[in-house]
Parts: sequence; C-alpha cells; structure tokens
Amino acid sequence: MTDTTIIDGVPPGPAMPMPLQTLAILTRQRPFLERQRRRYGNMFSIKVAALGHLVVLADPALIKHTFMADAKTLHAGSRSPLRKVLGDNSLLGIDEEHHMEQRKLLLPPFKGQRMKAYEPLIEEIAIAEIDRWPVAVEFETAKSMQRITLRAILRAVFGATGARAEELEELLPTWTDQGQSLSRFPQLHRDLGPLSPWGRFLRLRAKVDAILDSLIEDARRDPDLPERLDVLAMMVLARREDGTALSNAEIRDQLVTMLAAGHETTAHTLSWAVERLRRHPDVLARLVDEVDAGGKELRDATIREVQRMRPVISFAGRHTMKPFEVGGYRLPAGILIGLSAGLTHFDPDLFPHPDRFDPDRFLDTKPGTYSWIPFGGGVRRCIGATFAHMELDVVLRVILQRVAFEATTAPDEPWKFKGVAWSPAGGGKALVHRRPVREAAPEIAAAA
Ligand code: HEM
Repeated sequence: MTDTTIIDGVPPGPAMPMPLQTLAILTRQRPFLERQRRRYGNMFSIKVAALGHLVVLADPALIKHTFMADAKTLHAGSRSPLRKVLGDNSLLGIDEEHHMEQRKLLLPPFKGQRMKAYEPLIEEIAIAEIDRWPVAVEFETAKSMQRITLRAILRAVFGATGARAEELEELLPTWTDQGQSLSRFPQLHRDLGPLSPWGRFLRLRAKVDAILDSLIEDARRDPDLPERLDVLAMMVLARREDGTALSNAEIRDQLVTMLAAGHETTAHTLSWAVERLRRHPDVLARLVDEVDAGGKELRDATIREVQRMRPVISFAGRHTMKPFEVGGYRLPAGILIGLSAGLTHFDPDLFPHPDRFDPDRFLDTKPGTYSWIPFGGGVRRCIGATFAHMELDVVLRVILQRVAFEATTAPDEPWKFKGVAWSPAGGGKALVHRRPVREAAPEIAAAA
C-alpha cells in the first residue's frame, strides 16, 4: 500500500462474536484492547452491542486529526444516548451551530481565572465531609467522594443553598442513576404511567425542574446577580448575539448536564487517587511534606498521573455523519469512533513504564494535548476540566491536611464500569488516622 492509498471501510479487528466482544469491553476492557493493539496497531475496529462498529484510535496524530475534524462531519451529541435523558438542549446532546452557540454562552464561568473564587466553597464542603470519616477502620471512600462532588455542583454550579439544596441532594442521585440505566435502553423511553421506568424518570425530572425553575426565577430577580459566583447566575446573565437570554428550559438542561458530566467523574477520580496513594507510600509522604510546606506542584502532577492511569471515561466518542478519512481508511457514515484514553495513556512510547504510578513524569512536563486525553479534546473538550482539576486539588489538599492514610500492600482495586464512568471496584478503600489540625506558627498567631 502506498501512502496515498485510502481503503473504503473500517480497519480490521477481532473476529470474535459481538456478544463476546461486548462482554470483554465491559469486564476486561484494558487487557482486551491491549491484545487488539498488539495485533492490529493503534487503529482497529471492534463490535459492541447497541453501538455496532466501534473504530478505536490510540495514536496522538490520529486523535488530533479526529478532534480537529469539521463538526458537520463528526458529531458527538446528536446520536448520543444521553440526549433523550438530559433534555433537547443538553450540551452533550447537540452539535454544530447549536452546540457552538450554547458552549460559547456556558464557557465564561469555567475560565481559569474564576477558579480561585470557588476554592473556599469546595474547601468548606470537603472539610465538613472528611471530618466525619471513620478512624482506624477500613471503609469505602466512594460514597463520601460522591457527597462532596454533588454538594460542590449544587453550590458552585446550581447556586443552591438551604432547603432547596437539601431537596436536590435527595432527588438527584436517584435521577442520575435512573438516567444512566435508561440511556442504555432507548426501547424503554415511553411514558406508560408513573410505575413504568420512563414514567417514573419523567416525574422525578419534573420535581427537579420545579426546584430549578424557582432557583432561576430567584436569580432573574436578584439585584446582586452580577456579583454572584455560581454558574447558574452567569447563565441567567448570558446573552446571545441577538441580545436574547437563555430560556429556563435551556438553563435547566445545561444544569443537569453538568451534574451528570461532573459529579461521578470527579468522585471516581478522587476514589482512584486514594486507591493509588495508599499503594505508593513514598509519593504519599512527599505529598504530605509538600502540603505542610504550603506547596502544590507534586499534587498537581499526582492528579494528572491518577487521570493518566485511571481515566474514568475511557473513550471520547465521535459519530461519522459523512465519510471521514483517518489513518488510511475512509470510514463510511454511521460509524462510532472511540478515541481511547485507556490505551493511549498506556503507550510506552508516550509514557515510559506506563504501568508505574509516577507523578514525577508530570512535574516539569505538561501532559500532551493529544496523548493525555482524560477530558477528551477539540471543540467538545470537557467544559468543566479546569473546575474538576481545581476541585480535585482542593479536596486532596484537605484530605492530606486532615488525615494520615495507612499504606496497604493489597492488590490494586480492579476497574468497575458504572454505566458511564469507571470506578475502583472496592470503592477506593481508605484506612485513616486523624492528623492534628496544624496551629498557625507562633509569630503569625502573635500577630493575629
Ligand atoms: C474528573 C472529572 C471529569 C472528567 C474525567 C470529565 C471528562 C469528560 C469527557 C471525556 C468529556 C467528553 C469530551 C469529548 O468528547 O471530547 C466531557 C465533556 C463534558 N464535561 Fe466533563 N469531565 C469531568 C468533570 C466535569 C465537570 C466538573 C463538569 C461541569 C461542572 C463537566 C462538564 C462537562 C460537559 C458540559 C461536557 C460536554 C462538553 C461539550 O460537549 O461541549 N465535566 N467531560
């Protein structure tokens, strides 16, 4: 084959029947994909139930080419099973001009310079939760991390406090659980009354929407709205080019989208951080020294390394709406492309000794845009990536300041697929002792 030969169709892949490939991708994803990479290289196709052909890419050049492709050729939203569940306006379910318009309106609250303002809020939420951790008994951190990340989104994104925050905290976990299951079974998307799965889901969403409407209406009347920090306030203030504001329905869909996209992903990453650090006491000791000295460089690098080794979203997906050329193939319309963080992050040519947990690899080197892709890329790159990094950083800082972990020699916790994201199967088990809350240095205390 010469360099210019283009093959029409999908690249080769395993001949195993689709049900077996589906089972492998759900239960033994990494070894299964690594086997295909050894055999077929960094581009191959597998067959997955409900998805059909999935063309897997694990090469930074091909990933870049695909992330940069024209939004009319590759969609990420319109064919997403989440569209029906999150609402017609959801950023995760729209494409092309509609997507660019909404994304532009939603970007300002997620810009880097605003992150400092959210830190005290996240710190307060993390302290309240971590001070309730049991001491000297092993426990799963997963539920606790989920409470932290849910409260972070309710306060910082929804701007909810008091009774409405409590009610949302009660309703939303059930709603997201139901939504995750229903996104996999489009045949159930029929309202056959309050006892049917879709009927139950819609009624729960109506309750959530009523609370969100009251938050939005309060914001519209709030004379101090421009001073507010929450994302909802910025959505209410946002204006399209023609001067019109976002409707309540648009704001509601984007709020629940941020919850769905940002709550469990961040919580699972925190549980993975605990899982990794307890198995690497050398890194842990350096992190504790660093936090006590007021630093954060190693913590930043550690977060990036946790996301490299344990990317909670293993693929960013793109659907071909027209034939699309990549890696010597012209893929037909109707194909799903999976840009694989799970494989790319373990390529020894990109990350030497990829199975080694080594935050130092990111100490003086920023991760590559197309080789480190836990947040996807291009115009669909996670809009909450900076927020998520800030939240991971603040929560880890609070944890390191307030508790000491007991290291473990237990085997690594396996990966478990939770509908959308991958979490540690053991729930990120921790065994901690309280650290004395550090007093201010005498000269600072005297000055105070
Ligand atoms: C560790 C935490 C997180 C991870 C690993 C993560 C990962 C991802 C990934 C892989 C995508 C798809 C990107 C693509 O297709 O190229 C995405 C999209 C998105 N994420 Fe996140 N995310 C996280 C946290 C958050 C947070 C905290 C928020 C909001 C508060 C958020 C909001 C969104 C939204 C709205 C999209 C859709 C963007 C678009 O289509 O334009 N995510 N995220």
